[in-house]
Amino acid sequence: MSTVIKGGTIVTADTTFPADVLIEGETITAIGKNLSGDKVIDAAGCYVMPGGIDPHTHLEMPFMGTHSADDFSSGTKAGVSGGTTMVVDFVLPGINESLIDALQAWHQKAGKAASDYSFHMAITWWGEQVWKEMEEVVKRGINTFKHFMAYKGALMVNDDELYQSFLRCAELGAMPLVHAENGDVVARLQQKYMEIGTTGPEGHAFSRPPEVEGEAVNRAVMIADQAGVPLYVVHVSCEAAHEAIRRARSLGQRVFGEPLIQHLTLDESEYFNPDWDHAARRVMSPPFRNKVNQDSLWHGLAAGSLQVVATDHCAFTTEQKRMGIGDFTRIPNGTGGLEDRMPVLWTKGVRTGRLTMNEFVAVTSSNIAKILNIYPKKGAIAVGADADIVVLDPKKSKTITADKQQSIIDYNVFEGVEVTGLPRYTLSRGDVVFEDGKVTAEDGRGKFVERAPSPPVHEALSSWKALKTPQPVERSAENMPIGV
Ligand code: URP
Ligand code: ZN
Ligand code: ZN
Ligand code: ZN
Repeated sequence: MSTVIKGGTIVTADTTFPADVLIEGETITAIGKNLSGDKVIDAAGCYVMPGGIDPHTHLEMPFMGTHSADDFSSGTKAGVSGGTTMVVDFVLPGINESLIDALQAWHQKAGKAASDYSFHMAITWWGEQVWKEMEEVVKRGINTFKHFMAYKGALMVNDDELYQSFLRCAELGAMPLVHAENGDVVARLQQKYMEIGTTGPEGHAFSRPPEVEGEAVNRAVMIADQAGVPLYVVHVSCEAAHEAIRRARSLGQRVFGEPLIQHLTLDESEYFNPDWDHAARRVMSPPFRNKVNQDSLWHGLAAGSLQVVATDHCAFTTEQKRMGIGDFTRIPNGTGGLEDRMPVLWTKGVRTGRLTMNEFVAVTSSNIAKILNIYPKKGAIAVGADADIVVLDPKKSKTITADKQQSIIDYNVFEGVEVTGLPRYTLSRGDVVFEDGKVTAEDGRGKFVERAPSPPVHEALSSWKALKTPQPVERSAENMPIGV
């Protein structure tokens, strides 16, 4: 059976033009005028764009003494209702747990996904077994390894472990990702604020200032350079982090930065709301920042120094958040956003003129497809690409409210935000998975997307590494200090 998306305007990361799209099976087979197919999808007045890819989700993840509330069913359904047709989730091995066992457990959980998905593998501990298993992980279609520089005593790895893992990534043609915050300093600051009685959610923001993020990004950038490997920095929230990425890029390093829709649009005042629940529901790491930092992120997206907008969707119910009453360090870290990323970015980015439509496609889909080595199968409206498509109606509006969301939690951090520019249809590999405001996707139809490694891309750029094999200087006895 064939489907034609008719009468719309195609928007890709590069160009905008009116055309129909023909889909046969799961694939786009023609783009042009006056195409016909067995089934017609009306895109009059709409933009036809690659389905969104959210490269940063935590579905059904054990974390901070509980587990994130949305699973691969509710999470991917939230995604498709907002135009996102693929998520990349994080496999999180326990300390001393085999990476392969953890990967199998994640495959099991993802069995109910309603749209396509892939995984990053987290390096939560280090040893010969991890070093060995990383190769097998790459063989199983995962080319990215995530490192937490924060969450001391739980997920955090130290600089030695980072460097060893980055070297291994370089060897395997994989790319390291970092959650960049100085976990040692955060732990001390948490202790300090608890001691002086700042036990509420505002303590979370105080204990994670932009400086601890900027320092960690600089450190990760330097370690990546020494290892000769590209680097992807997740949830970039502030100018100090953005500045480190900009500088590394201007020096020729392949460093990528991912702001979240939350950091772009919500600010630190949320933590000073007198309603404890309101503030705690917004506790995530890094915390929301002030307007100056938000502006930096918007500028980075327009200028290309930041490449991707994600969500870090890690949703907890109010009841779960209340585990941290009296001790902000116990509030489970994370917020939702999968359903809202694209409508909020369209409304606050494209409609305000901060981003062009083509930049919108780049940062929600095409750039990450290229970074993850799955372009143009994903992230493109092109012949041969998977028919993952969002038909976006720029006139359709709604007010975001938890009552109507797919996510199973009982609130939404964007509650009350008016958005204009919503999917009329979302297609996943040719199937209509969202239409008329309703999710039509079935659990389990999503497929795992394998991502091949890339050939190692560059040597370290630092001046010492430029001497390919550093040689000791030969010195004769007369050039040595007397008495040696
Ligand atoms: O607060 C957050 N971001 N929770 C999810 C885990 C992580 O750090 O990405
Ligand atoms: Zn659990
Ligand atoms: Zn993180
Ligand atoms: Zn995360």
